[in-house]
Amino acid sequence: MKRLMRLRASQHLRDLCAETEFSRAQLIQPFFVVEGLKNEEAIAGLRGNVRHNIPSALRQIEKDLNDGVTQFLLFPVPAEKRDSGFDHRSTHQTISEIRRQFGSSLCLWIDTCLCSYTTHGHCAVLDERGIKLEETLDELAKSAVAFAEAGADGISPSDMMDGRVARIRTGLDEKGFEMVPVMSYSTKFASNFYGPFRNAADSAPQFGDRRHYQLDVRNRNDAIAASRRCAEEGADLLMVKPGMTSLDLIRPIHEQTGRQVGAYQVSGEYAGMALLAEQGLIKFEEALLETWHVFKRGGAQFVITYGARYAKQLGV
Ligand code: PBG
Repeated sequence: MKRLMRLRASQHLRDLCAETEFSRAQLIQPFFVVEGLKNEEAIAGLRGNVRHNIPSALRQIEKDLNDGVTQFLLFPVPAEKRDSGFDHRSTHQTISEIRRQFGSSLCLWIDTCLCSYTTHGHCAVLDERGIKLEETLDELAKSAVAFAEAGADGISPSDMMDGRVARIRTGLDEKGFEMVPVMSYSTKFASNFYGPFRNAADSAPQFGDRRHYQLDVRNRNDAIAASRRCAEEGADLLMVKPGMTSLDLIRPIHEQTGRQVGAYQVSGEYAGMALLAEQGLIKFEEALLETWHVFKRGGAQFVITYGARYAKQLGV
């Protein structure tokens, strides 16, 4: 009798037939560094993640490196909010101290969004009429250059402003950073699943929402077009976000652009599993691994996840 079950009967057979492989080198660990923070602060829902100051971030990175994490994504959170003319000195210090202490043992990506910097929490410079695109793009390019000067390995724009990848690329090239790659949040939906992150990054919009710049989950074509545009503008790596609500888009984006596409398992997706585990309803680490395999099956080249530091203990 035909039995599809036959090849699932033992771990050896299941491993023999596994269609996707997962490597720790393809997991990216986000972390938050808050300027002037006295002590580490817990982040509701984000198990294993805290808001850091520079010394505590350095300690955490050391631990993570020992656990085999090599890819990191920094979210800088400034002490003071402004409306324009943002100051990157503290992020410069964070990046250069990480570089000084760990050299090239890690790959350090920096998120360049403005929402942690602005008084209103939107990802752009605004006036009464809305987004001031030119000024926003200038600020984004300026921050990318500042971060590259401090020693960033890569720049990761998450703002969803039209034309930001091109402007950042030009800014970097003009200053001699032709080899610094851009990993664009290229297909990023407006989502309810960013809640825990916004507490951590102190970046919740003070009025309205982000639907006039982030994508509408109802639209597949627009979602793919956004990634195609980033690729045309010179993005080296692309990304879908939230991962779980974008699974169907990973392969088409890869096929249409020829670029590698990652999935960002966002704060709300991750916290959902942590909270279920807290209630004793699932096993956290096993659920985490299950979701990573699904991203791979969906075609993701890499996964950004708050749980990258658990990979080693999960045998990844
Ligand atoms: C900044 C940014 C956000 C995330 C990454 N960069 C939040 C947002 O767009 O509101 C979300 C990441 C997460 O939820 O883990 N724009």
